[in-house]
Amino acid sequence: MISRFFLEQLKNSCPVEEIVSSYLNLKPLGNNKFVGLCPFHSEKTPSFVVYSATQSFFCFGCQVGGDVVSFIKKMESLDYVGALKFLANKSGIGFPEDEIGGFNFGTRILSANKEAARFFHGVLKETDFAMNYLKKERKVCQRTVVKFGLGFAPKSWDSLGKHLFSKGFSLEELLAAKLLTKAQNGSIYDIFRNRIIFPIINSRAEVLGFGGRVLDESRPKYLNSYDSLVFKKSNNLFNINLAKKSKQIILVEGYFDAISIVQAGFGNVVATLGTALTINQAKLISVYAEEVILAYDSDEAGVAATYKAMNILNGVGLATKVLDLSNFKDPDEYIKNRGDIRFKMALANSVDAIDFKLNNFKVQFDINTSAGKVAFLKAAAALLAQLNNRLTRDVYLGKISSEMGIDKQILMSHVNNLIKIHIKKRKSIEQKNIARNFVGNKRPRSAGNTTCLVKSEELIIRSLYGNNSLFEILKSNCPFELFVSENKDIYEVLMYNIEHQLPVEMPCITGLNSDLLAVLSRILAKNFDFQLDFNGILECVKTLKKAKQQLNAAGVSKMAAEELKGYIEDLAKQKRC
Ligand code: UTP
Ligand code: MN
Repeated sequence: MISRFFLEQLKNSCPVEEIVSSYLNLKPLGNNKFVGLCPFHSEKTPSFVVYSATQSFFCFGCQVGGDVVSFIKKMESLDYVGALKFLANKSGIGFPEDEIGGFNFGTRILSANKEAARFFHGVLKETDFAMNYLKKERKVCQRTVVKFGLGFAPKSWDSLGKHLFSKGFSLEELLAAKLLTKAQNGSIYDIFRNRIIFPIINSRAEVLGFGGRVLDESRPKYLNSYDSLVFKKSNNLFNINLAKKSKQIILVEGYFDAISIVQAGFGNVVATLGTALTINQAKLISVYAEEVILAYDSDEAGVAATYKAMNILNGVGLATKVLDLSNFKDPDEYIKNRGDIRFKMALANSVDAIDFKLNNFKVQFDINTSAGKVAFLKAAAALLAQLNNRLTRDVYLGKISSEMGIDKQILMSHVNNLIKIHIKKRKSIEQKNIARNFVGNKRPRSAGNTTCLVKSEELIIRSLYGNNSLFEILKSNCPFELFVSENKDIYEVLMYNIEHQLPVEMPCITGLNSDLLAVLSRILAKNFDFQLDFNGILECVKTLKKAKQQLNAAGVSKMAAEELKGYIEDLAKQKRC
């Protein structure tokens, strides 16, 4: 068993395109692809393609494929562990010998964190002034303290260290967990001191790190665990462990905002950890939810951050709404001042992203002047031109034109002109992409029309790989049984890993043997440029359902495994894809 923490490190330090190019000459093919002469069979025209976006490779000549580890295995004739050691050496990350034998470092760090959380929680219960701070100043009740496992780090340089040493953790482990640190003079001390502690827990109930707040005005107000082998601030969210059950998630900036919202009765809230929202965090939300209500601070910085977050969330396929906090600084203040019921009403009244943007344009441009009005209308028209839904567009056309006192038809024709320009641009980009297509995709076609069963399976897998936001729609529409070929195993592993926050990308992906990894690499290579959206996916699911009915009619359930395989291969041939 190799730990996923080590594999994650390996992924970051051994990009497949770099490792491969130390063996052969790779030429860029555009769109994150590189091509060279295959080292595994003899050829004159290059058909060995490396994909940096998927961290995989595939030879269209001899059909060999895999990830950076399979490449080294073959190149250097090593076994799996041998290849890992080789790569670890080459990249200088080192191979911890205790990776082998189940006693791995990452797991030890997680245990240390869990024990630290228990310690902090116990100390809080015995520290009256910290408990009073929570209850009186922050209006946090006992039940909430327990629900979040809140704690208190005593004002001491070594209490946590002493406790964890007594539990058998080593200095090396505690330094790596970023619970202790070493001063320049060599002395060792606790990182969290005299702070309220918020454990950061992932969806598998592992404690990854901590946030800590002072009780007075001292600085820094908040301290977050430094990144470690098991924790990356930019990949995780506070309270995802509770919020993951919801289709709609509220996104806030602060720990106490999340806590107050949960206490007000809404468990579906997550907080970023002191940095701006990242794509990885958005992807994590998209595994569970379909819509995000943004509830950032109401100041100028908060509005700017809301815009950025909205783009990132939309980019991974999440719908967004924005909560109006009227004059209150943040959700925590709002709830403290106006109560749970008003907050519930505010949530229900949260405006969609379009209204939020239009309202901001109105603030930005002085619509009482003619010039300001023109600027507002231009910005609004550009916004409406980006909308895909005609009905929504029409509703806003009506609303804006009546508000501004102008003719709806005139605004509409302006918007339509902008749309025409957009379409032209998009077409020329698509044509360029098609021109850049490579072997195996010689005849690109609209994925939505694909009628072939195996092809549909492949397109689903290709689209799901690296795009966790398809998890929800597949979970509710595409049960494992719909897959009939060996692709089923790959589909199951991808879905399982996404659901359990396990790695889903090469070379960290767990649960696939090297044969299936090779199959996955072939699927990614052959369908590299086809990443379907929701509609495309549903189209494929429909095809699978239809095929399943036909298979059932053909008495497939009684066929032996080999017979079934032959039958499917025949089907695939008939439908030429
Ligand atoms: P804010 O400064 O907006 O404070 O920080 P807040 O959430 O309203 O805090 P309270 O109500 O005074 O307790 C928002 C978030 O930014 C991060 C923390 O994650 C915090 O929850 N932050 C803030 C830091 O990481 N470091 C800091 O020094 C301050
Ligand atoms: Mn606050």
